[in-house]
Amino acid sequence: MVDGFGRRIEYLRMSVTDRCDFRCVYCMSEDVKFLPRAQVLSLEELATIGQAFSELGVKKIRLTGGEPLVRHDIISLAKKLGALPGLDEVTMTTNGSQLVRYAEPLLKAGIKRLNISLDSLNPLRFAALTRREKLDQVLDGIRVAAAAGFERIKLNAVVLKGRNDDEVIDLVDFARELNIDISFIEEMPLGVVSSHNRQEAFCSSDEVLERIQTRYALIASDEKTGGPSRYYRMQESDTRIGFISPHSHNFCETCNRIRLTVEGQLLLCLGRDNAVDLRAVVRRYPGDTERLKQTVIDAMQYKPKEHTFYQDDQPQVVRFMNMTGG
Ligand code: GTP
Ligand code: 5AD
Ligand code: SF4
Repeated sequence: MVDGFGRRIEYLRMSVTDRCDFRCVYCMSEDVKFLPRAQVLSLEELATIGQAFSELGVKKIRLTGGEPLVRHDIISLAKKLGALPGLDEVTMTTNGSQLVRYAEPLLKAGIKRLNISLDSLNPLRFAALTRREKLDQVLDGIRVAAAAGFERIKLNAVVLKGRNDDEVIDLVDFARELNIDISFIEEMPLGVVSSHNRQEAFCSSDEVLERIQTRYALIASDEKTGGPSRYYRMQESDTRIGFISPHSHNFCETCNRIRLTVEGQLLLCLGRDNAVDLRAVVRRYPGDTERLKQTVIDAMQYKPKEHTFYQDDQPQVVRFMNMTGG
C-alpha cells in the first residue's frame, strides 16, 4: 500500500484493549473510564482485520493497547496473526507487569521481539509516573523475558524533565547488563494531562544523548527496526540506544505506519484525527475481507503528511494514548 505522499505502508499497530493495570501520567487520566465491551473489536474481528492488512502488503503487526496482556486470550490472537502467510513479524509493546507469566507463552506463540516500557528504576518515581506500585514486578518480568530467548527486547522510556531525566544513564546501564536495547521517547501531547505541564517537562532527545555521552561514546548506526527509533551503538556491548523524537527530529516523511484502535477506527496518523471506521465494515459484512481491503485502500488518501503537535493554528488531539494504540 502506498499513501498520497508516496510512502509505503507496511506496519500496522493494532490496539487490542484500551485497558491497563497502570495509569501512566502521560497516557491516561487516573479516573479513566474504559470502553464497554460491545464497542471493542472481538478477537475474531481483530484477526479478520489483520488478515486483510497482510493481504494488502503489511509486513509487521505490533500488538499494543492499553496493555495488551490484560486482554483475555491474547496469545491465541498472536498465534493466529503469526500464521498469516504475508507477515514477517508479529511484535508486542507491553508494560511488563505480567511478563513473568507471559514471556514463555509469547515466545511460543511466535513473538520474536518485545518492547517493554520502563521509565524509572526508582520505586517512588516509578509509582508516581505509573500511579501503581509495581516496579519490582516489572523488573522481574523484564529479567524473565531477557532470559527467555527472544531475538530482541527493547525498553522504552518516556523522558520527562524533573521526573526521570537524571536516570537515563542508569536505564542504559540496566539495559547493558541484560544485553537488551533501550529507546528514549519524547512525550507526545495526546489528551489533556493534569499531572504535569507538557511543554515544561519536555526533554529533547539531544539532551538525553548528551547526558549519555558523558559516560559512553556513542556511534550513530543506520540500523532500523521498522519503527521511528534512530539507533546508536556503544563499544563492547550489543545494546542499541534508540531515540524516538517526534518533536526534535520529525520522522513523518518516512512514516510507514497506521494504527487500528480497539474500537476499530483506522487512525492514519498518531497526531491527527483522520480516521476510517473499519468496525462498521467488519460488523456489517462479516468475513468480507475484499470489502475491508477496498475500504483500507481508499483510506490511504486520508493519511496526512505529518502530525501537527503544538501548532496553535491546528486542532490538537484530545484522545489519550491508551485510546490511540501506544
Ligand atoms: P520497533 O519495532 O522496535 O521499531 O518498535 P516501535 O518503536 O515502532 O514501537 P514501540 O511500541 O516501541 O513505540 C515506541 C514509541 O514510539 C511509542 O510511544 C509510540 O507511540 C511511538 N511511535 C511509534 N510510531 C509512531 C509514529 O508513527 N508517530 C509518532 N509520533 N510516534 C510513534
Ligand atoms: N508520549 C510518548 N510516549 C507515550 N507512551 C504512552 N503515552 C505516551 C505519550 N503521551 C509510550 C509508552 C509505551 C509506548 C507504547 O508508548 O511509554 O512505551
Ligand atoms: Fe498502561 Fe502503557 Fe498507558 Fe502506561 S503507557 S498506562 S503501561 S498503556
